[in-house]
Amino acid sequence: MLSKWDSKSIIPTLANRTYIVTGANSGIGFSTTKLLVKSGAHVIMACRNEKKALLAIEEIKKEYPNALLTFFPYDQADFVSIENFVLSLKNAWPHFDGVVFNAGIYHPAKGLKTKQGYPLTVGTNYIGAYYLLRKLLEHQLLDQDHEIRLLFVGSLIWRARFLKDPEDILINGDYGKQYQYNAAKTAIGTLAFALHNGYQIAGHLRLPNNVRVQLMHPGVTDTNIVNSDAKGFPRWFTTLAHKALTLFTHRCDIASLGIPLLLGNPKPDYSLIAVPRGLFHISGYPKLIPYPRAVKKNPERLLRETAYILKRNKHL
Ligand SMILES: NC(=O)c1ccc[n+]([C@@H]2O[C@H](COP(=O)([O-])OP(=O)(O)OC[C@H]3O[C@@H](n4cnc5c(N)ncnc54)[C@H](OP(=O)(O)O)[C@@H]3O)[C@@H](O)[C@H]2O)c1
Repeated sequence: MLSKWDSKSIIPTLANRTYIVTGANSGIGFSTTKLLVKSGAHVIMACRNEKKALLAIEEIKKEYPNALLTFFPYDQADFVSIENFVLSLKNAWPHFDGVVFNAGIYHPAKGLKTKQGYPLTVGTNYIGAYYLLRKLLEHQLLDQDHEIRLLFVGSLIWRARFLKDPEDILINGDYGKQYQYNAAKTAIGTLAFALHNGYQIAGHLRLPNNVRVQLMHPGVTDTNIVNSDAKGFPRWFTTLAHKALTLFTHRCDIASLGIPLLLGNPKPDYSLIAVPRGLFHISGYPKLIPYPRAVKKNPERLLRETAYILKRNKHL
């Protein structure tokens, strides 16, 4: 089974390609980075913690000594850091082939905010990714003479809800942790759907013709997502969560396969997203399905209200 799904047999060579992976030092981002460098790509690892990023690079180089890896500081919970990242990219690496919008958190302690005051989960997982996209566009980094793919990492959890009132969820930090996570991941899926279908509100987010949008979700995977630093979890919860994740879910290298599979496909059907093929899409090797209903609801409204809120707060 594994040999059929060995990344070599499904991912074409990615030599001479450069991909940006946010949150590349851990979990899905780390496995994705390994799969991409294994196929010959150069990966720009956009990470918030330099020490963790350098350790991740060291670990990958043990396995792939010739791996082409570059670390750039990037905190998706801070617009200043995102802007600085985009400026550094513009100076050092203005030509790239794709961006994997992967960085994310789950259940930070209640009441935490991003640097600019948005609820931390939605602010990091959705608003930060949106802001990165806006900055890449503003600095004309996506306007290139070759195809660029923007790949968003969503979540199975979007089955659980529609985004009824985007404006409320973007500013109201009083919702439960799981509710905020679900909303943030639904918003990422809806953003991808909106971009793929060319929705735009008064010129916001007009993608250049060379840009394509892809979406995947990794199922349920045993990563550091249940124990990263900003959590308010008691230790017993993290230990139990990991045990449950290991028992019922799948490995990171399998969960991440959908990403290089989409990025490396020379002729993808952009109307399809990658999800695990197992029961309820919880685990398994990737398969392609149409965009789910949950992320197709009100795409214009999400774009309009996100832009409105960021403008109102003078962040755009
Ligand atoms: N694991 C699952 O079951 C699952 C299921 C569905 C979707 N996902 C999605 O997969 C993505 C990756 O998560 P994971 O499961 O691989 O968890 P993970 O192991 O915790 O990795 C998350 C990555 O995002 C980074 N990150 C968090 N906040 C950031 C910020 N403010 N700025 C920059 N980077 C930040 C983390 O950096 P640090 O190491 O510094 O914390 C880490 O590198 C997330 O978008 C998540 O929603 C995961």
